[in-house]
Parts: sequence; structure tokens; C-alpha cells
Amino acid sequence: MSRPHVFAANWKMNLGPAAAAGFFDRFLPLCPPEPGRRLLFFPSALSLHVVAAATRERADIEVGAQNLFWERAGAFTGELAAPMLAEAGASFTLVGHSERRHVFGETVEDTVRKCVAAAEAELGVVLCVGETLEERRQGRAQDVVRAQLLPVLDMVSPHPQRWMVAYEPAWAIGTGENAAPDDAQEMHAAVREMLGASGGMTPVLYGGSVKPQNVAELLRCADVDGVLVGGASLDPGDFAAICAGGS
Ligand code: PGA
Repeated sequence: MSRPHVFAANWKMNLGPAAAAGFFDRFLPLCPPEPGRRLLFFPSALSLHVVAAATRERADIEVGAQNLFWERAGAFTGELAAPMLAEAGASFTLVGHSERRHVFGETVEDTVRKCVAAAEAELGVVLCVGETLEERRQGRAQDVVRAQLLPVLDMVSPHPQRWMVAYEPAWAIGTGENAAPDDAQEMHAAVREMLGASGGMTPVLYGGSVKPQNVAELLRCADVDGVLVGGASLDPGDFAAICAGGS
């Protein structure tokens, strides 16, 4: 079965509302819609409104939050609930990004709660999984990814249009050193197997130092359905080149 290619931009703590609007002024003419291609943007929550408005005419572009809290409302200072994110224009959310896990101490249990809350609010999820360098060196990469993925699958039944997995080895994020295509393919095939019956329909994205220069070789891998891009998604020209399949 052929799955559409997905190009996702994770802007992290960059591009406030004014810069986000400026990004789309340049990006949209560079990247017209293409059949069978989905684009996803994960701006700062403060820029969600602007990004949703700038992309309203583009059915191929969806907008998501980078994080959420699992309660629907209440005394949780500084947190953002799934229904609020949906109201601000999000139709997706990232869950379990490596920086959430390793910088902010998010546990597997936290990611499960977040995925359940997202599903209740009808937000799609891109669940990020991946091992550290030490875990890879110890030969435990697939075990680590399985331990991040299976508890979520126990609690939510993935909806094919609204559920993706992003394999992002922690050692490849923001380092300039992407996974070798063969290593990415091996993990993606393993993830697809872990996904069981939904594996054939679930987009499995690769993330970690994706650039215009390496995206083509990654997309050639049979089980790499798209990419989740951090640093190189901040520049409209670079991200448009990535969405075109690379240079
Ligand atoms: P990077 O980040 O492309 O800057 O390595 C990827 C990510 O964190 O999603």
C-alpha cells in the first residue's frame, strides 16, 4: 500500500507570531501543493493562530502543537490543554519529543496520558520515539523504542489519518549527524512491526539532522514515509527544498 509522504516542521522555541507570518509569506509560493504529499507544522503555541490563518487555504497543510497537558482544564499554571490547542488551530500534537523526555523529564506514563488526552480532543498525534547514543551502543535501541511505543498502543487505538510515529534517535537531533539510511530503515521496519495491524497504514517519519542534502537518501528507504525536521525547517527555502524531496 502506498502511504503519502509527510514533511513535518518542528519549530521548537523559535519563530514567534510575527516571524511565523513572515515565514509563510516566503514559504507558500516556494512550495505549492502536490498530490500525495502532506505538510505539518508544529510552531510555538503562541504562533498557532497565525500559522493556522496563514495556511487556511492549503488543504495539504496541517498545524499542530509541540506539547500538551493531559487535564482538560483547572489549576495547572503554565500548561496547555488539548481542547485549547484545538481551538487555537491545532489538529495534531507532538508527544514524547526527545527534548520533552530528556530535558523536561517526561516519562512513558506521561506520554500515554498525553496521547489519551489528544485522542479525546480529536487531535492527531505524532509520537516521537528514539534511543540515546549510549542505548544504541549497548545494542538496546529497538528495546528502548518498543518500551516507548507499546504502552501507548495499549491505551489508544491509532486512527490511520491522525496517528504517526517519528523515529528520532536522540544522538541525531540538532547534531548535524543523521542516522545512516540503512540504520533508519532497520528501525522503521521494526517500528512498523511493533505497530501490528495498523503498521501498514501508519506513517513512520524519520527525524534528526534532516537537511536538503540528505532527505532524498532517507526517503528512498522503503519504510521511511517522511521526515520531522527541526533546525532546517526554520528557513523557508531549506524547508521548501526538503519538501521537494531534496537537492
Ligand atoms: P533537527 O531536530 O532537525 O534540528 O535535528 C529534529 C527534531 O528535534 O524534531
